[in-house]
Amino acid sequence: MNDPSTIRRLYGRRQGHKLRQGQAALVEDLLPRVAVPEAGPVDAATLFGDPAGQGRPLELEIGFGAGEHLAAQAAMRPDHGFIGCEPFLNGVVGALGHVEREGLENVRIHMGDALDVLERLPDASLTRAWLLHPDPWPKARHAKRRFMNSGPIALIARKMKPGGEFRFGTDHPVYCRWGMMVMGQSPDFVWQAETPRDFLERPADWPETRYEAKARRIGHEVWYFRYRRL
Ligand SMILES: C[S@@+](CC[C@H](N)C(=O)[O-])C[C@H]1O[C@@H](n2cnc3c(N)ncnc32)[C@H](O)[C@@H]1O
Repeated sequence: MNDPSTIRRLYGRRQGHKLRQGQAALVEDLLPRVAVPEAGPVDAATLFGDPAGQGRPLELEIGFGAGEHLAAQAAMRPDHGFIGCEPFLNGVVGALGHVEREGLENVRIHMGDALDVLERLPDASLTRAWLLHPDPWPKARHAKRRFMNSGPIALIARKMKPGGEFRFGTDHPVYCRWGMMVMGQSPDFVWQAETPRDFLERPADWPETRYEAKARRIGHEVWYFRYRRL
């Protein structure tokens, strides 16, 4: 995607602390079995071996962090297929741990930039997509590094089914305003809030991550946005 409104480059850490033996084993043994293939289409037949034409609904989480939300959503809908994207190795290990412990067979993982997967998804294939607590890049001169920009949002829109839901959450006031502005400019989505409670209170089917719990502990407000694809 050559959209000038986004810088196509990954910022942030790729690896933190050294992996313990069990974690390294997850990366060696489990990751190859659940990884999104490096090339070709990213559809239900390719990912889950579903018969062509009878693919399951697909859902995508962008930047899943330690994978708690991805795993919880996947457990709620075992008949759906979940694709999680995260470039941070220690985060991927967290998600692999959930997949193994909880026996999740409906999760596929891309260790890298979510845009690479989005581009390869068939159009109108996603029923849900999440962008939770994206890196804020609060300085105005870094705004183009934010995942939420018109290019990626148009790409997400193209990959979503009409009626599908895109959720975005943040505890950062700059990103909150920015996200509302970018989404407000998109012709493809409609905000689903009717009252302030709809964006001030965490919906029951929106499991809390450790990141979010920590944000609340240190006194941040968290905002929850739900948009319907037109
Ligand atoms: C602040 S953390 C939030 C993690 C998680 N969503 C949560 O709410 O707990 C933001 C995450 O987005 C990931 N990230 C940043 N750019 C990304 C991209 N282009 N594609 C996928 N993940 C990305 C980062 O590695 C990081 O783990």
